[in-house]
Amino acid sequence: MEEKKPLSHHKQESEEQHSSRREFLQKVGVGSVLLSAGAVGFQTLRSLVPNVLYESARKFKIGLPTQLSEGVTFIEDKQLYIFKEGKSFYSISASCTHLGCTVKHTKLNQPKEVEIHGEKKTITSEFHCPCHGSKYYADGTNYAGPAPRPLKWYKLELSPDDGQLIADMGIEVEQNFRLTV
Ligand code: FES
Repeated sequence: MEEKKPLSHHKQESEEQHSSRREFLQKVGVGSVLLSAGAVGFQTLRSLVPNVLYESARKFKIGLPTQLSEGVTFIEDKQLYIFKEGKSFYSISASCTHLGCTVKHTKLNQPKEVEIHGEKKTITSEFHCPCHGSKYYADGTNYAGPAPRPLKWYKLELSPDDGQLIADMGIEVEQNFRLTV
């Protein structure tokens, strides 16, 4: 009979161990669920945060507004035209919307009357693509050739630290965008 005591004691210990193992497993289970929920939540939140490195690679300084010549400046390595009209600045992509060739800014021999989006305008320049003949009005609107869309316009802003013009090719803007300095 005396021998049964340790057995019962042993059984009790075993039940305690079993119960604590079950609690441990339950905790681990809950922990895993929380961890995966956390991971999903983090990924969801991360997808809402802009990729700063990617954006900064598309954002670059051009120079002081006073350093830019009146009219058009072509930034070859960015495939970007910058226009200066007095105190106003805007930028238009040089990348043809057909297959990406570089469009050429072309001065017209004489001003031309055109209708863009139902509005009559006088233009003195256009963009012509040398690859398959697409043509765009001065504001980038496509009107001839296979180009399916207008040229993109990108945001310009002033750097708060040194007053230089910044082009942000990560942000498209409307054709009436002007930065006035
Ligand atoms: S790439 Fe410009 S017309 Fe084809």
